[in-house]
Amino acid sequence: MIGKSATEAAAWLRKGEVVGLPTETVYGLAGNIFDAGAIRKIYEVKGRPLGHPLIVHCKDVEAVKALCVRTFPPMAQRLAAAFWPGPLTMILPKKESIPLSVTGGRDYVGIRVPSHPLFSAVLEEVGFPVAAPSANPYGYISPTSAAHVAAQLGDRVPYILDGGICDVGVESTIVEGLDRSVPVVLRLGGIPLERLEGVVGKVSLLKSAEKKVTVAVPGNLPWHYAPHTPLVVGEVQTLLQKLKGKKVGLLLFQKAVEGVPLANQVVLSERGSLEEAAQGLFKGLHHLDSLGCDWLLAPRFPDVGLGRTINERLSKADGRRFTGTT
Ligand code: TXA
Ligand code: MG
Repeated sequence: MIGKSATEAAAWLRKGEVVGLPTETVYGLAGNIFDAGAIRKIYEVKGRPLGHPLIVHCKDVEAVKALCVRTFPPMAQRLAAAFWPGPLTMILPKKESIPLSVTGGRDYVGIRVPSHPLFSAVLEEVGFPVAAPSANPYGYISPTSAAHVAAQLGDRVPYILDGGICDVGVESTIVEGLDRSVPVVLRLGGIPLERLEGVVGKVSLLKSAEKKVTVAVPGNLPWHYAPHTPLVVGEVQTLLQKLKGKKVGLLLFQKAVEGVPLANQVVLSERGSLEEAAQGLFKGLHHLDSLGCDWLLAPRFPDVGLGRTINERLSKADGRRFTGTT
């Protein structure tokens, strides 16, 4: 059931249920971190392999320190002051009390303070931190509206709290190594690299080759965030030539193209705003995936700010099933 009551969502969480909750990034599939049954349900409902850690959400920085993390280094202080509440997840040494089932067996917890007022209201009511992966079936496109959650998982959760369309539209940026001189970005996300570096100086980006040997991070698998229709990223006009006769859906930045029905095109930001494009990215993919196309095509976006995050998500969604001869 979809509803607008934070109190009702909180009541389900207190009973050990999992519910869909809105955040400023994407919708989450939420459960009480201290309830083993609820954590198990999150993995079951999402179809996520056990051992892939969940992000913990707290109502404020005090709750993070008191309930979840053992140490909060100076760099974490600066990041919290700059970006919390907001789309930044920090990987920090966990307190004993945080179950290993939440962290995939690691001594470190991924943690953030979300800024969506309804999520904050729920956290205020329940008084415990809430684990929440994105509320999509494992490997599929993340949801940015309550309707997306209902379509994907509606029959598996008792309640979805409707907080409207997510403002940011892509998941949080994840950083680790905050006790080192150069922190590491594990996942590009809603806080652009440039803004992060404005606060902590140079950061390094984990290369995909290294990701395989560090930790199971679903967003770090080579294939993720994927629509069912095969998607190819590249020069759209060239790809269209190769796909003559096929039904094609287009995810574009500023302008529609000629020769493809407008109903099969999503233009993310006519005014060229990467923020607006990021906000509409997953919604656009959900929509195009519902049209029954043979192929979806998208260009590479400008490689700055949230454009990097968009490119990263699109390259993960690119099934690489295109041979160029179809
Ligand atoms: O914006 C977001 O982060 C959304 C909303 C709901 O908060 N959540 C989200 O969760 O994207 P999920 O589970 O779909 O992706 C979380 C990522 C995963 O790639 C996971 O492996 C990584 O964070 N992660 C979580 N805890 C971690 C930890 N302790 N160490 C390393 N990576 C961690
Ligand atoms: Mg996810």
